[in-house]
Amino acid sequence: MSGRGRTTSAAGGATAPQGFTEGAVTYDEAVRHNIAGSDRLVMSLPDGDHRRVLDVGCGTGWTSAAMVRRFPVEEIVGVDASEGMLERFAAKLGSEFPDVRVELRHEDVMAMGVPDGGFDAVLCAMALHWFPDTPGAVARMARALRPGGVMGVLTAGRGGEDAWRELLERVGAPADWTGWFAANQRDVDEIAADLRAAGLEPLDVWMERRRRHTDPDAFMARTRAVAAHLLGNPPGGFSELDRRIERALHDAAGPDGFAYDYCKLYAIARRPGTGLGRGDAA
Ligand SMILES: C[S@@+](CC[C@H](N)C(=O)[O-])C[C@H]1O[C@@H](n2cnc3c(N)ncnc32)[C@H](O)[C@@H]1O
Repeated sequence: MSGRGRTTSAAGGATAPQGFTEGAVTYDEAVRHNIAGSDRLVMSLPDGDHRRVLDVGCGTGWTSAAMVRRFPVEEIVGVDASEGMLERFAAKLGSEFPDVRVELRHEDVMAMGVPDGGFDAVLCAMALHWFPDTPGAVARMARALRPGGVMGVLTAGRGGEDAWRELLERVGAPADWTGWFAANQRDVDEIAADLRAAGLEPLDVWMERRRRHTDPDAFMARTRAVAAHLLGNPPGGFSELDRRIERALHDAAGPDGFAYDYCKLYAIARRPGTGLGRGDAA
């Protein structure tokens, strides 16, 4: 049996998801280095019965695909507010998700129409920092877990991308972009507090800092894929802000490219309880 998909439309026009729809065609190629993050998140989950999976901010499906590679997953519900990203996910269903029931839901995280306690594992990779209400989103995702189920979160870590934020400040990027870092990055203690407030037990929370040296054109392509809504590019063209950023990236690049630190924050947590009573082995 091959995987099957369905898109349910209920999302209400948030700007970051619109940006992701604009960048969806180039997303897999421009942010390919992030696939390793999804793999690391999934490989860090405790062993167990993870047959029913909820992937929130699922994008083009990397984390769901990593789950299928590691566990005998039977059902995946992918939720994303970007129709363009879901279309890219849907295109992979036959090849990367054989023997898995896949439902793709076009919804905002806070309006997910998924059952409380309905999932063995809830995953959220590189998406939490785009959600407007981080603690609220963690609480909403936690409700979907069965007792004993696990949550895996990969998000932007505090202290990363200072060089990038400073470049944006130099070129006069708007405050809703330059202020994004302080408002949306999380440290280990902060995400652990969000998880506890949602009724979960943190099991493993850690941060990784990388120094990346990147070709300025590749960095610009990545920016257009993940932050199109902030660049304000017209269809088929480039805004003045896009051009200023591109020039500044080239100016800032040394012989080894544009250097910046990136912090990835990983968190694994469990909903207390055993989850027994639905036919599982004791
Ligand atoms: C950087 S992508 C990550 C996608 C995928 N999880 C991955 O690891 O490649 C962030 C995703 O979060 C989605 N997103 C942003 N805000 C959202 C919201 N409020 N509700 C649901 N999804 C949202 C975007 O549309 C985008 O697909």
